[in-house]
Amino acid sequence: MIYPIVIYGSPVLRKVAQEIDKDYPELNKFITDMWETMYESDGLGLAAPQVGKSIRLFVIDGEPLEEDEPALKNFKKVFINAKIIESSAETISLNEGCLSIPNLREEVSRPIKIRIDYFDEHFNHFDEWYEGMAARVIQHEYDHIEGILFTDKVSPLTKRLIKGKLASISKGKFSVDYKFRLPK
Ligand code: NI
Repeated sequence: MIYPIVIYGSPVLRKVAQEIDKDYPELNKFITDMWETMYESDGLGLAAPQVGKSIRLFVIDGEPLEEDEPALKNFKKVFINAKIIESSAETISLNEGCLSIPNLREEVSRPIKIRIDYFDEHFNHFDEWYEGMAARVIQHEYDHIEGILFTDKVSPLTKRLIKGKLASISKGKFSVDYKFRLPK
């Protein structure tokens, strides 16, 4: 099932998402639907709050970035109950976008490396370091389960410049070819 993508201004995008356990109702079906929704909307990653569920789950498939970073070829993962437990002091500024904030891209500065504790879809436990684009995409999706959006992390000047644009996005003044749901 393909979910509509929840758009900027919806309260669910601002909640700190809840942990789940392996008895979460229809977890496998939900993960399948997350992948389907992500591929349908051409995203690299998708977090559960973006389909209206405030739970600590996100999916990432780095394959489209393989050309720039061959290590991402087989980077396809489900992250459940993730916690970033360490970050490098060194940061890098890169352009980011988000399915919930259509047609807006801005520079965002983030740590180059992160250490993350999480479970996969079989509830196997991992504690791993990531760097490069993997670290970048993980941090973006991780922010979603913390109720944070990339536009919170831009410079104060950019924040002022995009204020009007964000207001129009939340009113549906954009065009995308995936299903979406505007804030009430
Ligand atoms: Ni996003």
